[in-house]
Amino acid sequence: MPFTPAKLIILETVDSTNNYAMAMVQNGSIESGYAVFAKEQTAGRGRRGKAWKSTPSKNIMLSVIAEMQWLPIQQQFGLSMAASLGCTDFFSIYTKESIKIKWPNDIFINDRKAGGILIENVIKGKLWQWAIIGIGININQENFQQEEFNATSLKEITGKNYSVIELAEQLHLCVLKRIETLSSSADVNFLCEYNENLYCRNELVKLKKGNIVFETMIKEVSGSGELVTKDAMERRFEFDEIQWVGKVEK
Ligand code: BTN
Repeated sequence: MPFTPAKLIILETVDSTNNYAMAMVQNGSIESGYAVFAKEQTAGRGRRGKAWKSTPSKNIMLSVIAEMQWLPIQQQFGLSMAASLGCTDFFSIYTKESIKIKWPNDIFINDRKAGGILIENVIKGKLWQWAIIGIGININQENFQQEEFNATSLKEITGKNYSVIELAEQLHLCVLKRIETLSSSADVNFLCEYNENLYCRNELVKLKKGNIVFETMIKEVSGSGELVTKDAMERRFEFDEIQWVGKVEK
């Protein structure tokens, strides 16, 4: 198996880097800190059971493996913030555009989605053992399918072409650095930074809960990861309780 110094496993094609990483964790053949990168995924997965489609060799498909026994599972939003901020750190190396985190962990640039994160966990009893942090970042892709109308890529933003593997190594380091910071200090709290970079903060948006679409203003995300909004009253939403409909244009 080819390992680079950055502990990156590089695959030509795989169903999903998250599946591959999870299998290695389950059979005990991987250490914390490694990541799996694939040039192509045949069954890439996104959040909410959606497929994650990506043109082969154009984009980053990366799964970072982290042992998590040091963090109570009740604090899992801490890892979600670390992963999101690792991605914003990564993008800020290549562009001066404003990089935002759409709750809970989509990466948005210029109102379009440039990346997404799918974290999958191994929990035994009450103990959080491992996390697989699956990250899809659009790098050189220029044409997106109709259903991905709001997607963008680093190339669309800067006009440049990139070495996808070099950037995957960089992203891997950015994410590891944030996780190390989280694990090395009991005081670290990424919440302020996360909220400073929150997409549509203090803006009116349309959300959908069940069949009801409503307008509300995004205020912040709480320490446990709930989205806090305000209209006639303050509202709090858990992951996957609501769907995003769109911004309310001024
Ligand atoms: C989302 O926005 O819905 C999350 C997308 C996560 C995609 C990445 S690509 C690498 C890893 N392998 C997968 O199958 N999914 C994640």
